[in-house]
Amino acid sequence: MPPPAAGYTGDPMRTDLIYLDNAATSWPKPREVGEAMVAFLEDSAGNPGRGGHTLARAATATIDEARSAIAGLINAPTPKRVVLTHGCTDSLNLAIHGVMRSTLPQCCGAATPKVVSSCLEHNAVLRTLHCYASAGLIEFQVINCGSDGLIDPGAYLEACDERTVLACLTHASNVLGTIQEVGVIGEGLRTRSPRALFLVDVAQTLGHLPIDVDAGQVDLLAVAGHKGLRGPTGTGALFVGPRAFPDDPEAPRLVCERRGGTGMIGIGLDMPRELPDALEAGTANAVGFAGLLAAMRAECRADHDTERTLTARMIEGLSSIPGVRLFGLPGVEGRTAVVLFNIDGVHPRDAAAALDRDHRIAVRGGVHCAPLAHRAIGTGERGAIRASVGPCNTAADVDALLDAVGRLALAGAGV
Ligand code: ALA
Repeated sequence: MPPPAAGYTGDPMRTDLIYLDNAATSWPKPREVGEAMVAFLEDSAGNPGRGGHTLARAATATIDEARSAIAGLINAPTPKRVVLTHGCTDSLNLAIHGVMRSTLPQCCGAATPKVVSSCLEHNAVLRTLHCYASAGLIEFQVINCGSDGLIDPGAYLEACDERTVLACLTHASNVLGTIQEVGVIGEGLRTRSPRALFLVDVAQTLGHLPIDVDAGQVDLLAVAGHKGLRGPTGTGALFVGPRAFPDDPEAPRLVCERRGGTGMIGIGLDMPRELPDALEAGTANAVGFAGLLAAMRAECRADHDTERTLTARMIEGLSSIPGVRLFGLPGVEGRTAVVLFNIDGVHPRDAAAALDRDHRIAVRGGVHCAPLAHRAIGTGERGAIRASVGPCNTAADVDALLDAVGRLALAGAGV
């Protein structure tokens, strides 16, 4: 049986676990998250949107407030355009399958539709698109990044043409932390590929960087609840813009695969035609959204500037350890709080396991569900070690990592 986790008490100073895996999921969660989830289960846990009794109304209010809070964070024109999901992968699946379902029947006999994406995408995008590409239903073009982990907007846009129906881009790489020029690509796409919908994955940036769907000309925005927003797992959202789903829903460009009950409109075998019900079926993870709402309302214990300071400290420290190789941008500018490195002579998974076992430091080794990013930077199937600070980390946490990596590097060199 694995040892118990740190026994976190709400005070990050009172645990001996050094958590540097915030890119996978943020930890610790604000104390208010757990409290709100318990309170919801005790006092409000009816079925949201189903029934008019007290508990159902309380649950509906929680869902509505969470939806509105997410809409406010991303500058959505109305909360109705925020479809609640079970996480960012769920949002990306809803977006991609939804666009394909509306696109492919219209394209019979016409030129093969094209989808453009980048090598930095998560498997949630790559594997979902691969199922259409491998069946010959779409042409799928992947744009490579430079060794710095940046996608050249010119190269990306050059690949987009009049056949392009969907363009996908992660706002920041979960492997390298590099922040991509979403606004430039969103704007260029409108001219080069007027038909294309622009799908942006903000799993690594929402909660850390300002996000504005309008400014970025984003049609579809996939949100994770459990990363930068610091909510529980099992929560996410998909923003659906008017080009993807017009107010007059005669010909939506996004068609839901998922069917089922939506609550109020129970008659008829077709799904409702209005958002968000048109794309939501079944009981929402209301207890999860109660936690996410509390997370969004909670005061952060540290400013996100702290993350930048700590990331800079980590980059500088790792750079000075012989046998350690860093990947991506040279400094903290243009990246999230993600640092990727390898230690000569030590497999990244072994390094991550040793850091956990011998030093109680949590990092993630491997390919981080983004195999094409690792291929592009030459770390291949072994991958690398990723350390990612959050707002509760301290300089002492980073120094502990540097000390432990220094020891592993000596061992890797056979010293
Ligand atoms: N996508 C998550 C990560 O980057 C799980 O680790």
